[in-house]
Amino acid sequence: MGLLLKILVPFVGLVLAFCFYSKEDFKPEMLKGKRVIVTGASTGIGEQMAYHLARMGAHVLVTARTEAKLQKVVTWCLELGAASAHSMNGSMEDMALAEDVVKEAKRLWGGLDMLILNHIGYTYFNYFDGDVEHIRKLLEINFLSYVAMTVSALPMLKESGGSILVVSSTAGKIGIPFVAPYSATKFALDGFFSSLRQELIIENINVSITLCILGHIATETAEKTVSHVMQKPGAPKEECALEIIKSGALRKRELYYPYAAVRIPLLIRDWAPEFLDSLTRNRLNVENVKRS
Ligand SMILES: NC(=O)c1ccc[n+]([C@@H]2O[C@H](COP(=O)([O-])OP(=O)(O)OC[C@H]3O[C@@H](n4cnc5c(N)ncnc54)[C@H](OP(=O)(O)O)[C@@H]3O)[C@@H](O)[C@H]2O)c1
Ligand SMILES: *[C@@H]1O[C@H](CO)[C@@H](O)[C@H](O)[C@H]1NC(C)=O
Ligand SMILES: *[C@@H]1O[C@H](CO)[C@@H](O)[C@H](O)[C@H]1NC(C)=O
Repeated sequence: MGLLLKILVPFVGLVLAFCFYSKEDFKPEMLKGKRVIVTGASTGIGEQMAYHLARMGAHVLVTARTEAKLQKVVTWCLELGAASAHSMNGSMEDMALAEDVVKEAKRLWGGLDMLILNHIGYTYFNYFDGDVEHIRKLLEINFLSYVAMTVSALPMLKESGGSILVVSSTAGKIGIPFVAPYSATKFALDGFFSSLRQELIIENINVSITLCILGHIATETAEKTVSHVMQKPGAPKEECALEIIKSGALRKRELYYPYAAVRIPLLIRDWAPEFLDSLTRNRLNVENVKRS
């Protein structure tokens, strides 16, 4: 016991010291004057990210399909103190739009510091319906356009030592029922961006990639589509948006939000996959999902 304590106490002390010492603190000034693209920013978490960035004094370029909503976001960003605020509308089914958004950032600012990839196309929350075309389209919106934007933005991000933030989900790390097409696109993001991150490190390229693993968040879309199956209310979108920006500014590898609800299943995943599967099913009110 004595020996164990002699080893354990210094060890725990060392681990704690390392955790606190290595944790650089986030300061809102980190974003001041930074040039940031936020996709899917007409509503939900993306909209809230634009407002946080505006308060921090960043330049923002927001995109989505609905021009009227984007105009309101731009106006509010300027009100909140954005260094500048612009928008571009169109669907990310179109890879030309993905590239044009990055070109617009170059035209406006001559460079880019942060690329926040957040948009998703509409999908159903139900048993897989066998629609292969839907998956193809969703892969284009949720995955391929992320790749296309990254390819276009990398030269500017290399120049600025910038960051790429990829917004994903627990469904991009573990199997959750009723979201097969969505889940496929989110797993694809993990594969692509985790591989690319390794290459950037090997080549000493100073561009960080942060994969953000989100649990249930109370956005309008989530309230409408999934809340009837959830046993707990979603986490606040405002705080979620702030945590995403912080994790990118601190150049973290991955973000887990809300921390325990996301991190614990991931820790169980590789050790007891069947237990996690049943836990996941039991945490959903599956009887509320009627095959459509
Ligand atoms: N809410 C959650 O519980 C939750 C959980 C895990 C992960 N996430 C992730 O968090 C991110 C944001 O989610 P959210 O709940 O904030 O979503 P949301 O409120 O539904 O917002 C989605 C955004 O994407 C845009 N969009 C939709 N279709 C598009 C298209 N074809 N081309 C371009 N833009 C399009 C929407 O605007 P328009 O309709 O105007 O185009 C909107 O601005 C997503 O990556 C999602 O996977 C959310
Ligand atoms: C942008 O929105 C306007 C107004 O709703 C629309 O006329 C235009 O076609 C949209 N642009 C794209 C590229 O979808
Ligand atoms: C990488 O870029 C960041 C932010 O631009 C900067 O703070 C950091 O010093 C850079 N690191 C290296 C090794 O150049």
